[in-house]
Amino acid sequence: MNKLFDHLKAPKIFEPGPNEIWTDPLMSKLVHEEHLDPNTPGGSANDLFINKSVAFIQDIAPSSTFKKIIDLGCGPGFYCQKLAEKGYEVTGIDFSQNSIRFAEEKARIENLDIEYRVDNFFNWNETNKYDVALLIYYTFSSLSPDERNKLLQKVHNSLKKGGLLIIDGFSENVFNKFKEEQTWSFSKKESILSKDSHLGFMQNLIYPNKVTLTKTTILIEDENPRTYHYWYQYFSKDTLEKETSNVGFKTKGIYSDISSLEFDEESDSIAFVLEK
Ligand SMILES: C[S@@+](CC[C@H](N)C(=O)[O-])C[C@H]1O[C@@H](n2cnc3c(N)ncnc32)[C@H](O)[C@@H]1O
Repeated sequence: MNKLFDHLKAPKIFEPGPNEIWTDPLMSKLVHEEHLDPNTPGGSANDLFINKSVAFIQDIAPSSTFKKIIDLGCGPGFYCQKLAEKGYEVTGIDFSQNSIRFAEEKARIENLDIEYRVDNFFNWNETNKYDVALLIYYTFSSLSPDERNKLLQKVHNSLKKGGLLIIDGFSENVFNKFKEEQTWSFSKKESILSKDSHLGFMQNLIYPNKVTLTKTTILIEDENPRTYHYWYQYFSKDTLEKETSNVGFKTKGIYSDISSLEFDEESDSIAFVLEK
């Protein structure tokens, strides 16, 4: 019982959960299924949106001059595949083995030459190599301030002079709609997370500096509780510009999302095109 109460306490800001979302064997399987399900927005954008985003990338960074692209946190490689088809030389990094295995198999079937790596991008070090780096679908919003700074520096080092970083995050508009709440649920259905019926406890918590936590605890009879932390940082134009300019990026364009929609304060996302 004490163990359960430990799982229900509010953690310190950006404290990792006892169970990791992306690499935990069960949760990463669930996330992978979500990536592949066009009706679940959790993992990746839908095909129409990805096509629009790829057209936008081709517009601002044509493959004739911006040949080498790296996709950080590439998931199952949806962007990598389409960019390779358009003539880019593509590298995709993700620490989810499920996602990279799927991406490699897809590339093999489609006969696409894409370099995929199972790697943690915090251990990645390359210099002056890429023309474009992608960090998309809210991956940046899920990182702590120290992690964001570390990753931005790594991306900056990896780009050639004049190279571009295309990045998105959640906007402050989503933060303003976020409500603190707690809910219990009981599920009899078998799921990827549990073969047996289980209890779920979900907490939505607000932290200082426009940070939120969605914390999910799963309770299954005779098993230890499992708790996942979904941290999110929400950005305004100013806060995202400040973080990225601190490591030396120049802002080239601000959008609502990476399908090139003009920036609008009411949008749920914010996207930047940045230049080294
Ligand atoms: C929200 S998904 C986005 C996937 C992909 N960019 C897309 O739009 O389809 C975030 C991805 O980042 C990966 N990721 C998160 N932290 C990572 C890290 N430290 N190193 C490598 N990959 C990471 C996750 O495994 C996941 O596939």
